[in-house]
Amino acid sequence: MAFDPIEFIETKKDGMKHRPKEIQEFIRLLVSGDLPEYQAAAWLMAVIFNGLAFSETLALTQAMATSGKVYKWDTDGPPVVDKHSTGGVGDTVTLVVAPLVAAMGMRMGKHSGRGLGHTGGTIDKLESIPGFRTSLTEKEFRKIVNRVGCGVAGQDKSMTPADGILYSLRDVTSTVDQEALIASSIMSKKLAGGAMHILLEVKVGSGAFMKDPESARSLSKLMIRLGMASGRNVRTVLSSMSSPLGRAVGNALEVREAIKVLKNDTPDDDPLKRIAIEIAARLASMCGFGKIHQTRSRARSCLAGGAALSRFRDMVSAQGGDEAVIDQPEKILPHAGKILEIPSTSNGFLKTCNALIIGELVRDLGGGRKSKNDVIDSSVGILIHSRPGMKVGSGDVLCEIHTNGRISNSEAVQRAESAFKVVSRKPEIPDLFI
Ligand code: URA
Ligand code: CA
Repeated sequence: MAFDPIEFIETKKDGMKHRPKEIQEFIRLLVSGDLPEYQAAAWLMAVIFNGLAFSETLALTQAMATSGKVYKWDTDGPPVVDKHSTGGVGDTVTLVVAPLVAAMGMRMGKHSGRGLGHTGGTIDKLESIPGFRTSLTEKEFRKIVNRVGCGVAGQDKSMTPADGILYSLRDVTSTVDQEALIASSIMSKKLAGGAMHILLEVKVGSGAFMKDPESARSLSKLMIRLGMASGRNVRTVLSSMSSPLGRAVGNALEVREAIKVLKNDTPDDDPLKRIAIEIAARLASMCGFGKIHQTRSRARSCLAGGAALSRFRDMVSAQGGDEAVIDQPEKILPHAGKILEIPSTSNGFLKTCNALIIGELVRDLGGGRKSKNDVIDSSVGILIHSRPGMKVGSGDVLCEIHTNGRISNSEAVQRAESAFKVVSRKPEIPDLFI
């Protein structure tokens, strides 16, 4: 029987289940342009109200994954791994993890996105390095990943076109926050990327998509099931994102921060360092490189001994970037015109630094986009001096605002101040890992 889009929408509107074949047909017609977007939008809204069963979510994920180019990696080289972090603030994990896993004997060829809304994008960060190219042909990308062990490219337009269409529609029809739609969107891209071992970091908290641990756990379970049913080894790690992960928020500032971690120039309790080590160690363990305590110590020594830094240098140079960024990041990376310091007005302990407020402020300083075509200023951002739980004295600098005046200084200062909450008694700070 021929596929009838109206009936397809009606089935979901009435809370009934689609057969996998119908979902495949829906995706095929959507990508070929034979199904209008308004019908897809109506279906998405029906999914918001009535959800998708696992069999439907799996069919949707696989149909989206195969709607465009699917990467296949040779199986005789080092294992190919991938990671994904659900959007965070001050989250520079990929810049550290990619060279770290390469140093540990894995390959990571990552397709990354640009920032949208209050969360940053890896591609925007890397492009603050003069000359760095993120637009690579498949051939160039493969060559770099196979030679260096890691490479980061922008989203390949010919991959998962179905997700591209649905994601843009969801963005403008208030249909983003549905578990099955989020899981299928993320997993379709991971399946198309071709890695056998995939670690998903799901962030929880005010700065993340998932506001509470229960919904994050439920999303995790679903993504693991989708991956396993598609023949991939998938694990997840839940981490807290109520404060920005790293000290730096903003493109060039985050690159500087990542280089610091790669130079092993940060303390062991540095959250960015901890999370990068944990992700790399778990991936290595998933690849059969040893028990988690062994791979953790291997990850630490690859950072401490400079092996990860050396892979980063090779990747920057292979992708056309100025290698001097590693030895002299302050000189090579762009600088903002003005730095405003925000001092604490009281004595006590820092309770929170609101990731959402910081993320939105950096976006409005010019570090991110409100709509797709906005041009970003990679030099602006916020450098946080104090982490939640730390003692602060009146007059101590809580953070620096790096600005070029896209919003007034008084507005920037007032918004930055509102992100920090100082209390008199030492607060309980939840651990990074949940
Ligand atoms: N990230 C994605 O790629 N897709 C979603 O739906 C949500 C987050
Ligand atoms: Ca019919």
